Amino acid sequence: MKNNRIIIFDTTLRDGEQCPGASMNLREKLEVARQLARLKVDVIEGGFPVISDGDFHAVQTIAKEIKGPIIAGLARCVPKDIDAAGAAVKPAGKRGRIHVFLATSKIHREFKLGKARDEIIRLAVEGVARAKSLVEDVEFSPEDGSRTEPDFLIEVCKAVVAAGATTVNIPDTVGWAVPEQYGALIAQLHASVREFQTGKAIISVHCHNDLGLAVANSLAAVRAGARQVECTVNGIGERAGNAALEEIVMALKTRAEFFGGYQLGVNTREIVKSSRLVSRMSGLVVQRSKAIVGENAFAHSSGIHQDGILKKRETYEIMDPQEVGWGVTELPLTKHSGRAAVAVRLRHLGFKMTDADVAAIFARFKEIGDKKKFVYDDDLVSLVEGHITEVPETWSLDYLSVTSGSQTVPTATVRMKKPGAKAGESEVLQDASIGDGPVDAVLKAMDRLTRTPGKLMDYSLRAVSQGKDALGEVTVKVDFNDGNLVVGKGASTDIIEASARAYLNAINRHLTAQQEGRRALPQP
Ligand code: KIV
Ligand code: ZN
Repeated sequence: MKNNRIIIFDTTLRDGEQCPGASMNLREKLEVARQLARLKVDVIEGGFPVISDGDFHAVQTIAKEIKGPIIAGLARCVPKDIDAAGAAVKPAGKRGRIHVFLATSKIHREFKLGKARDEIIRLAVEGVARAKSLVEDVEFSPEDGSRTEPDFLIEVCKAVVAAGATTVNIPDTVGWAVPEQYGALIAQLHASVREFQTGKAIISVHCHNDLGLAVANSLAAVRAGARQVECTVNGIGERAGNAALEEIVMALKTRAEFFGGYQLGVNTREIVKSSRLVSRMSGLVVQRSKAIVGENAFAHSSGIHQDGILKKRETYEIMDPQEVGWGVTELPLTKHSGRAAVAVRLRHLGFKMTDADVAAIFARFKEIGDKKKFVYDDDLVSLVEGHITEVPETWSLDYLSVTSGSQTVPTATVRMKKPGAKAGESEVLQDASIGDGPVDAVLKAMDRLTRTPGKLMDYSLRAVSQGKDALGEVTVKVDFNDGNLVVGKGASTDIIEASARAYLNAINRHLTAQQEGRRALPQP
């Protein structure tokens, strides 16, 4: 049976989020999931439900709220994981999928699991059968599949398909594969398992980018018979990341004649918006020259190229930038714009906001509108994202004053509030500090006030929109001496204030996580 569609399985919220420092709160995950639904991916892997209450709740909420895509939850081949994944995806009804995995390669069998081949098969079959008793749609992944002996991999595929798996994913877990060899492996599996030919089950691929080959390997696999590709927006993920969704989709679309003209459900015009949202929510900056979504992806600087483009765009552009969502801008708002206009623009940008959300964003909009002439869509998106990123405010910033200059010792005075013992009361504390620079002075004062000292591991600043009065958006990664990286974000027309807001956001996130007692990722 000819299956003419490639299923795009997005794992930004699961494998992508496993990237150090990229963890997102529920609100952020939900916003990303909504955008993935607008992007029209086929499957959203929302998380690994057994890992923590937070992950369970996130997958369950996504399953409840997001209409359209299949919602998947990951599970090791153990009953408690499978049951948790089943319960989390339940609200999605028939669109719920359990994704079970178990390592199959010799090195994993011998050194990680201490299990023989027949035991692996038995566990895989039991896991798939248990998942099948909870949902109709079951996917199985032989972890480290690309390094598994092909004859054993075929045996595993046959056994899990017989047990009810309708998708068998072959992960290149450690990014070891190269395109010709990986393509040949997929072709061999396709030729050896009858259900892959009849369409009763499909082959999926899941490639990591350790050798920079994740996209090339995934595309080679499609040519060899794979019908689902697992990927993440901007290619985020563990270590060097996963295959980038935007590159897979645009390669299949732009070179459709080469790949066989497969149908894709993705609305490519939502790609740039998705990339920006994921970048801001995860705190992972997209490199300027990144294919499709980097700032320079469609910027032509050479005179010869510019001349060619003006004569005929296709001379130097293989894709229309608008096809992936570049250059779609609206008239900016100003400080005279009312709350209704802001609410309409937020809706138009795709945000689902309550009245209370709009009120909070409108208050920040007014502050910004007083400082800059135009408030662009990107400014507004940054305010929304700042709002979504907010965690319960253990501490809030009340006042900030900084002196700095070429002949002055940078000095910061900071006043902060924290809730008092009784409801409605707050305690106000003030301190001053000197530092190597104005940002350093502010952060040192905040460390002392909150008694939550952190090591600043990464700091980035970017202009959200154009012009000298552009909003500056700061992203920090902070280690609060427990080995975890906490991301904080803040925006303001004043970059020192943006830095203080970002650091405060990281402190509050860290304190909230401590209160919730989040657990670390268990070993599969
Ligand atoms: O890379 C990997 O092997 C995975 C599996 C859980 C699919 O992420
Ligand atoms: Zn992975």
